[in-house]
Amino acid sequence: MSSQGSVSRLTSVDIRSRKGGVPIVSLTAYSANIAAIADSHVDFLLVGDSVGMVVHGFENTLPVTLEMMIMHGAAVVRGTKRALVVVDLPFGTYEESPQVAFRNASRIMRETGCGAVKLEGGRHMAETIRYLVERGIPVMGHVGLTPQSINTLGGFRAQGRTEDQWDAIEADAKAVSDAGAFAIVLEAMAEPLAARLTQAVPIPTIGIGASSACDGQILVMDDMLGITPRVPKFVKQFGQIGHAIDRAIADYAASVRNRSFPAPEHTYGMKPKS
Ligand code: KIV
Repeated sequence: MSSQGSVSRLTSVDIRSRKGGVPIVSLTAYSANIAAIADSHVDFLLVGDSVGMVVHGFENTLPVTLEMMIMHGAAVVRGTKRALVVVDLPFGTYEESPQVAFRNASRIMRETGCGAVKLEGGRHMAETIRYLVERGIPVMGHVGLTPQSINTLGGFRAQGRTEDQWDAIEADAKAVSDAGAFAIVLEAMAEPLAARLTQAVPIPTIGIGASSACDGQILVMDDMLGITPRVPKFVKQFGQIGHAIDRAIADYAASVRNRSFPAPEHTYGMKPKS
């Protein structure tokens, strides 16, 4: 089949090759229309399990199911042509064994058309990462604050706040890299630690609340756009889309209440006959 004229999609290999180069731009996305707007600006879009909090109103990411990830992942793939799409493996779908992880990750890849999956965890997930990569599934790692473990971490807490924790987190990042992950998310950790990990691993680090020294950055789309009511301290809002939506809905509501919408010329059958 000819691919002439089509835009070629970035792959995990392209992202891997960006270590130490031009910083990698990424955002989360959960729907086709927003993904389509982001597509030409980013290198990859992450269909994060943050979808549970952002779109479905859960308190944390634990209730997110494989079916939800597949539904949102497929929408984002349909909305995009260029960006690599990475889909999160949700809580409970990969921790049990490499085989269970393969079954669920391969289902995500098959049913969404995405190019890679992401999973949380360090040394204890290395065997699973290796198992998936050896069987054709590109894996992005995720260390530092791993939101699926909030119950053992004691909440959404930044990691590596004291230097005595740094060696363990570095060992996690190295294990993920050695196991064959093509990139690794560093979430909510002390800035010098994130900079040190970026030096320590040969794969790109993608920071979120980490360090500008990382090889790339990611933000939750709705946080960055100013839609989420309360955002973590490190988030810079690059827009105030929440206010824009509020104003547009208020204008619409007012026009309905004062009977100026729809305008007669836009009503079927009301156009004057010529
Ligand atoms: O689920 C998500 O949105 C994530 C990012 C915060 C990296 O994992």
